[in-house]
Amino acid sequence: MAVLMSPLHAALNTDVFFRHMVGNMRNGVLAIARDGSIVLVNSEACRLFDLPNDGSIPGQPFRTVLSNQPDVVRVLGGAFEMATLPNRAELRLTSTNTAIGYTLSLVRNDDGYPVGAALLFKDLTEVEEMEERERLRDRLAAVGEMAAVVAHEIKNPLAGIQVLAGLLKRKAPQHPEMQSLVSDILSEAKMANSIVQEVLAFVRPVRLQVARTSLSEAVASALSLANSGTPRGAIDVNVEIPADLPLIGSDHHQLTQVFTNLLINAFHALDGRGHVDITARLAHTADEGALQPDGRHLTPTVVIDVADDGPGMRPEIAEKIFNPFFTTKQQGSGLGLAIVRKIVDAHEGRIDVTSAEGRGTRFRVTLPVDPPPRVEPAEFRKTRQV
Ligand SMILES: Nc1ncnc2c1ncn2[C@@H]1O[C@H](COP(=O)(O)OP(=O)(O)OP(=O)(O)O)[C@@H](O)[C@H]1O
Ligand SMILES: [Mg+2]
Repeated sequence: MAVLMSPLHAALNTDVFFRHMVGNMRNGVLAIARDGSIVLVNSEACRLFDLPNDGSIPGQPFRTVLSNQPDVVRVLGGAFEMATLPNRAELRLTSTNTAIGYTLSLVRNDDGYPVGAALLFKDLTEVEEMEERERLRDRLAAVGEMAAVVAHEIKNPLAGIQVLAGLLKRKAPQHPEMQSLVSDILSEAKMANSIVQEVLAFVRPVRLQVARTSLSEAVASALSLANSGTPRGAIDVNVEIPADLPLIGSDHHQLTQVFTNLLINAFHALDGRGHVDITARLAHTADEGALQPDGRHLTPTVVIDVADDGPGMRPEIAEKIFNPFFTTKQQGSGLGLAIVRKIVDAHEGRIDVTSAEGRGTRFRVTLPVDPPPRVEPAEFRKTRQV
């Protein structure tokens, strides 16, 4: 056997040890014998393949047990025929749409004869989500950099137009027609200027004034800002934030901006009627949603949901909403959610969206109670300051 052990430990009951080891592995393990029966399956494999974890699976044919995972059946089915077995390959489980990374190896006896095959695999959902966030960061940085340059270059000629139009206006006080034309030029220039300012505000690095902040207060400020900025109509807003939620290390104003933008979007989506629910809770474990900022340690985390029962979004829309300048609105600049994301990132938090057409939209903001110290969000460090 190609497993090396100390003589002392080899004398112990290694079978039990191996069983515990495989059972508790964080990778999924499923092994079959040559006749196609399952020899062993561990808890992670049961979770991923959605199988009962009660010991009823071993002994059964893998083709029957995994009938709703045709790709896995195909991989296992080829184990004894393939010249080279897949190593670090990926496939997507059809039942749950989960990506897994897997390695298939033959189980050989002491004579080298293959008596079975073992599939080792890992849930790639988190890796995929992380890659997606990285891609988005890169995209944001690239778009931001370009927008900064364009806005900066437009700023000067625009100021020139405003000054010259002002001069023209003063030069011809007796020409009412000309006065009105020049006023139009000035108001258009003012509009262009406010777009430039908005873009510049977006591309500027987020600088946080971190202090112990009450989430309830930030949400209350956001609600009154959203109420004054958008006609709310008969929309019912319900806020449920536990009184004992800890204060979070964050920038009150920027946090308020996050919830203001989310609320305004919800009000737009609801178009005068429906519900918005804002709820918050504390999370300590990964299952509850706690963050792992350094990839190892869980940190106490506040999870805030802003959910509406509006029209929701199609998946092809939902995947673009955090892109700067993506909007489906006539009057939208498409920067609202890009700014939200930038602020959440600066707090070392996360924002996720769950939405389905006709079933409303839920934004989940996840923030560490104590964000690790950080000078500037990495994705904007390179951005030119204007
Ligand atoms: N709660 C929601 N329900 C449905 N669609 C939404 C919701 N929130 C955002 N969206 C979609 O996401 C798009 C982008 O939102 P974002 O806030 O970034 O820009 P915007 O609202 O269009 O413009 P603005 O810059 O004025 O905020 C919206 O145009 C809309 O299509
Ligand atoms: Mg918006």
